[in-house]
Amino acid sequence: MASLDTRPEAADDPDDGWFPESVAARYDGDDGPFAPSVVEATVDVLADLAGDGDALELAVGTGRVALPLARRGVRVHGIELSRAMAARIESKPGGDLVGVTIGDMTSTRVAGEFSLVYLVFNTIDNLTTQDAQVTCFVNAAAHLRPGGCFVVETVVPPLRRLPPGQDTVPFTVEPHDDGGRLGFDRFDVVTQRYTSNHVRVAGGRGSFWSIPFRYAWPAELDLMARIAGMRLRDRWADWDGSRFTQESTKHVSIWQRPHDPLPGMRVGE
Ligand SMILES: C[S@@+](CC[C@H](N)C(=O)[O-])C[C@H]1O[C@@H](n2cnc3c(N)ncnc32)[C@H](O)[C@@H]1O
Repeated sequence: MASLDTRPEAADDPDDGWFPESVAARYDGDDGPFAPSVVEATVDVLADLAGDGDALELAVGTGRVALPLARRGVRVHGIELSRAMAARIESKPGGDLVGVTIGDMTSTRVAGEFSLVYLVFNTIDNLTTQDAQVTCFVNAAAHLRPGGCFVVETVVPPLRRLPPGQDTVPFTVEPHDDGGRLGFDRFDVVTQRYTSNHVRVAGGRGSFWSIPFRYAWPAELDLMARIAGMRLRDRWADWDGSRFTQESTKHVSIWQRPHDPLPGMRVGE
């Protein structure tokens, strides 16, 4: 029988939120969102949108996207809550090309005007209240030059997989010879909050990690963009520009700060 350890690692700094040193140390990978083909497709779109302007990544993490975008010749700056995550950027090729401001993406302002602000890999959901998500849209818009774009990549909430009376959806069950990995999301449809829960067992020792999120439907995000003075320009099912349909499990949405403010609206105050 494995023992289960749910304590934070001793080296972790609470100011780093849900991505402290112990998470940062094993964050980077080779597949899924780290696969070169995925990163390249992402960077193709972002470089095109940035054009000859600067780009700002909210929640830049370890530079998975910011670094290859900077190596394409786009000037990229990042905002990031976790020093442990941001510290990884410096040690990677081109690390000196990406400046990082440590702070909260809902309130941290950086100098300059950007043609592109982006927030990828479901990270809008890391803000666990509607107010925080709205404030993030307002902060993004405040950094954009007129005509600039805010891009969000995130999941479509998988609530169609929840039959009445059920609140939990498994996303992985991976047995191994000496243990395995289980992952499941648990939803509260009243608050739109959910937790992503990970159990890992190896060598007779188990660990449990649970991280809180808040989901929002694409239409709710459109309203947040409107509150921030932006309007929807495109919504795709993925970075390849494929059509967003009712079967889509994620979306890449692009809102634009108009050259002239929308009637009765002021951008990013
Ligand atoms: C899933 S990672 C994504 C990192 C990177 N954007 C990527 O695509 O690999 C989520 C990141 O969001 C950061 N984060 C979470 N809440 C934040 C906030 N309120 N302000 C700034 N960064 C935040 C975390 O520290 C973490 O680095």
